[in-house]
Amino acid sequence: MRLSPPSQDELDPIEIASRDEITALQLDRLKRSLAHAYQNVPLFRERFDAAGVHPDGVNSLEDLANFPFCKKQDLRDNYPFGMFAVPKSDIVRLHASSGTTGRATVVGYTQTDIDNWSNLVARSIRASGGRREHTVHVTYGYGLFTGGLGAHYGAERLGCTVVPMSGGQTERQVQIINDFGADIIMVTPSYMMAIAEEFERQGLDPRKSPLKAGIFGAEPWSEAMRSEIEDRFDIDALDIYGLSEVMGPGVASECIETKDGPGIWEDHFYPEIINPETGEVLPDGEKGELVFTTLTKEAFPVIRYRTGDLSRLLPGTARSMRRMEKITGRTDDMLIIRGVNLFPSQIEELVVQTEGLSAHYVLEVHRDGALDSLTIRVEHALSGAASAPDTAGKLRNRIKGVLGVSAVIDICEPGSIERSLGKAKRVIDHRKA
Ligand code: DLL
Repeated sequence: MRLSPPSQDELDPIEIASRDEITALQLDRLKRSLAHAYQNVPLFRERFDAAGVHPDGVNSLEDLANFPFCKKQDLRDNYPFGMFAVPKSDIVRLHASSGTTGRATVVGYTQTDIDNWSNLVARSIRASGGRREHTVHVTYGYGLFTGGLGAHYGAERLGCTVVPMSGGQTERQVQIINDFGADIIMVTPSYMMAIAEEFERQGLDPRKSPLKAGIFGAEPWSEAMRSEIEDRFDIDALDIYGLSEVMGPGVASECIETKDGPGIWEDHFYPEIINPETGEVLPDGEKGELVFTTLTKEAFPVIRYRTGDLSRLLPGTARSMRRMEKITGRTDDMLIIRGVNLFPSQIEELVVQTEGLSAHYVLEVHRDGALDSLTIRVEHALSGAASAPDTAGKLRNRIKGVLGVSAVIDICEPGSIERSLGKAKRVIDHRKA
C-alpha cells in the first residue's frame, strides 16, 4: 500500500497561494533579510558597501541581482561564528560540516530558526504523503550533520512517531524497520541500497517490509536509482534537498502526486540560477548553478549563497511554488575525461540500467602519461544472471555511445565496494593525489 497525497486543506495556505501572493511575501521578507544581514554581519555590510548597494534600494525581487554573492569559503574564513547575525546567547543549536576538504563550516540557529526548519521538514514529509499516524525511521546521521536532527524535528512536528536510528548497524536497521512498523524512511539513497541488501541477506523480501515511502537526499541520485529503489522495496521514492549553509534538509522537497523534482519552499528561500562562470542570472528553465537567499533566517542569514549545485528552475505543478530539476551534479563534481565533461550521476544512470549489475559502484580516474583514464568498478547484482564479460562489454558500449567516453569496466564481487553509512563517495580521482 502506498501513501496518498495531502488534500488541499491539509496544506499551508501559502503552498497553493497565487504567484502574486508568493512574490509579494518574498519581496517583503527579502527587504527585511537584506537589512538584517547588512546591520548585523560585517561581511555583508562590507560587501554591500563595496558593491554600492543598500537594502533600502531594493524595490523588486530582480534588484537582488545587484548584490554580491557569498560562498563556502566565506564561512571558512569566518570560522567559527563570524557570520552569525545574533548574539551567541540567542543561538540554541550549532551544526557543522566535517571539513574534509578544508576548514569546517559552522552554522547556528535561533529557536525561531529551529521552528521554521521543523515546519518545513514537516511540510516536506507531508508532501511525501506522511501524516501524524505514520512512523518515520530516520537513518540520516545524528550529530553535527544536519540530516538526522533536521529530519527528526520535522517528523515530530508533523506528529509522527519518530525512530531516531541514525546511520550504521545495518542488521539492526532491518529489524527495527520491521518490528516498529516504519511507514517512511529518511536516508541517503546509497545507504538505502545497503539496507536492501541486508534484507536479502537475512532472507527477507524488502517488498514485504512495512515501508510505503522513502525521502532521500543529501547526495545526487539518478532517476534510474529512483526506479531501482521503488522496485526493490515497492515504495514511492521522493527527493529532498537542502544544505547546511541555507538550513539543512527541507529547503525543497518532492510532492508524491507528481515526483517531478523538489518543490522549493519559496516562502523561506529565494532561488536564482546563475551562469557559474559569469555570475549572470539566467531565466527560469535554463541550467546553471543554484543560488539561495534566505528570507527568514535569524541566526545565519545568507545572501546569494552559491551552492555549487547544478539545476534549473521549473514552474510549480503540485504546488504554486517553483520546482528545481533533480540535481545531476555539482560544479566541483564534474569529471573531465579526455575533454569530455560528465557527472557521476550520468554514469550511475547507465550502470543501474544494466542487467546483472548492482547500484554499488565507484569511479576511479587515473592519468596515464598525458591521458586521463576512467575505470568503473561495479558489483554484480546478487541475482546477476549475465556473465561478466558481455555485461562489461554492454556497459562499455552504452557509456561510449551515450556519454562519448571510453571506460574500463571492472565488475567485482558483491560486497567488495565499501558501503557508506551516509553520503557515498563515488569518485576516487588519482590525478589529485
Ligand atoms: O546534505 C542536508 C540534507 C540532509 C539534505 C538530508 C537532504 C537530506 P550538507 O551536508 O551541507 O547538507 O550537504 C549539502 O548535499 O549542496 C548538494 O550538493 C547535496 N545534496 C543535498 N540534497 C541533495 C539532493 C545536507 N536531494 C549538499 N540531491 C548540497 C542531490 C543533494 N544532492
